[in-house]
Amino acid sequence: ETNKTFTMIKPDAVANGHIGAILDLILKNGFKLVALKYTSLSTEKAGEFYAVHKGRPFYDELVGFMSSGPIVAAILEKDNAVEDFRKLIGATDPAKADKGTIRQLYAESIGANAVHGSDSDENAKIEGSFFFSAFEQF
Ligand code: CMP
Repeated sequence: ETNKTFTMIKPDAVANGHIGAILDLILKNGFKLVALKYTSLSTEKAGEFYAVHKGRPFYDELVGFMSSGPIVAAILEKDNAVEDFRKLIGATDPAKADKGTIRQLYAESIGANAVHGSDSDENAKIEGSFFFSAFEQF
């Protein structure tokens, strides 16, 4: 389904009080909520979610960071969702993110970069169902 993507508001942005501002930007940019959850990842679950990055030098840091505090997980709906959402969040490194993007506004570093966005339709589906059952999607 090309009209859905998956996002997390990461522990840095939650701890810094940016949940409301980030959700507001997402909704104002035309994304609709399909599912939404305030939750957290154990190190085991974070390792599973980021299994594709296993072996990368930043893997342990990534898993540690993503399990360091609560997150917000969401499935979003919009035409061209994956691509449009990646434009809205900006580059992985906030120093390289375009002005007005979520990461330029709210991220601290490459690791603590405020939000996640799926990189393909296939991963959006996998990542969404990692957090949400069919009964939790509207
Ligand atoms: P995201 O795209 O959500 O998923 C993979 C994450 O790995 C990415 O966000 C970054 O937060 C993190 N990441 C990528 N490169 C590095 C790096 N060089 N150092 C630390 N974390 C990184």
